[in-house]
Amino acid sequence: MHLGRTTLSKFLIQQLQDAGDQGKLAALLVDVAAAVKAISAMTAKGALGGFLGAIDSHNVQGEQQKKLDVLANDAMVASTEWGGLVAGLASEELDDPYVIPEGFPRGPYLLIFDPLDGSSNTDVNVSVGTIFSVLRHDSAEQPVVGDYLQPGTRQVAAGYAIYGPATMLVLSVGKGTHGFTLDREIGNFILTHPNLAIPEDTSEFAINTSNARFWEPPVHRYVTECQAGKAGERGRDFNMRWIASMVAEVHRILMRGGVFMYPKDTKDPSKPGRLRLMYEANPIAMLIEQAGGAASTGRQRLTELRPEQLHQRVPVILGSKNEVLRIERYHAEHASGHDRPYDSPLFNERSLFRAREFN
Ligand code: AHG
Ligand code: MN
Ligand code: MN
Repeated sequence: MHLGRTTLSKFLIQQLQDAGDQGKLAALLVDVAAAVKAISAMTAKGALGGFLGAIDSHNVQGEQQKKLDVLANDAMVASTEWGGLVAGLASEELDDPYVIPEGFPRGPYLLIFDPLDGSSNTDVNVSVGTIFSVLRHDSAEQPVVGDYLQPGTRQVAAGYAIYGPATMLVLSVGKGTHGFTLDREIGNFILTHPNLAIPEDTSEFAINTSNARFWEPPVHRYVTECQAGKAGERGRDFNMRWIASMVAEVHRILMRGGVFMYPKDTKDPSKPGRLRLMYEANPIAMLIEQAGGAASTGRQRLTELRPEQLHQRVPVILGSKNEVLRIERYHAEHASGHDRPYDSPLFNERSLFRAREFN
């Protein structure tokens, strides 16, 4: 039954057969997939598994951890630490990089992950996910934090799992973005969505509008124009979505287009955005770009940013190319004082009249 279907292992062997130790990359991604299956089983049990709810601890970002955050983190570590494929691991839920225990060989890759993205949604049974990024570590030395701080353009693989009505794995090794669906009966990921392509145009945007009073003028301008619909600047109606689970938003965008924004805002000056660069923004940006979309901070291509800290936050604007380019243009026009409808030089970045004054 179903002979001839492309499983994840077959697909990876085919995509990575050409060069040197890339077989190790395929093996690592298969180990990641094993962790994903374990996390999928835990999330699918819901309240029956006893895994829901928070625990009495906080991660390095000061967020209260959910039981499932910790269990998903442990599943990723246990599945990947032993095989001689990784030199080290880093995670949203671990303050410092994880040191591979003595006795396990070290390999050529660094694996960075958000074990459970959107975990505020676990208790309400809305889709959550796992995000991961793979970088090279071409040294026999034990990796230090600085070794992890490579720009997104250096990623050799990236992906996410989404635990929705179906569990899917979406990944890229730099040759397009491809989606696999978990066949729960036989336990295999099957290639169901090869060569994903994001439409260049869209009429759907996603942003948490409860933060509107903290947005910068270019974001205000964009959202206001979308909301004006047919009657406004854009001449067509837009639809809005907000799931509060980035993997679910990104998955929708990969399936039918759209734009997702968690922009820079003035809510907390110590946080230039909500999402984390190394294990949320960069891997998702690679998947989006490999599917023909664009990913930006509003001011520059996301994957070209030089990371400074493992847990640093960044503004994220990604999805259908023409919308992302438009939002980048609005940022540039604002910076130079040439934005409309805020077309007075009084309202540019150097002026007294900043975002808050618009609200
Ligand atoms: P995490 O659960 O890993 O901390 O990430 C949650 C992120 C992301 O998935 C989502 O887009 C965003 O936080 C939701 O933010 P709001 O709470 O502002 O809606
Ligand atoms: Mn997350
Ligand atoms: Mn998380």
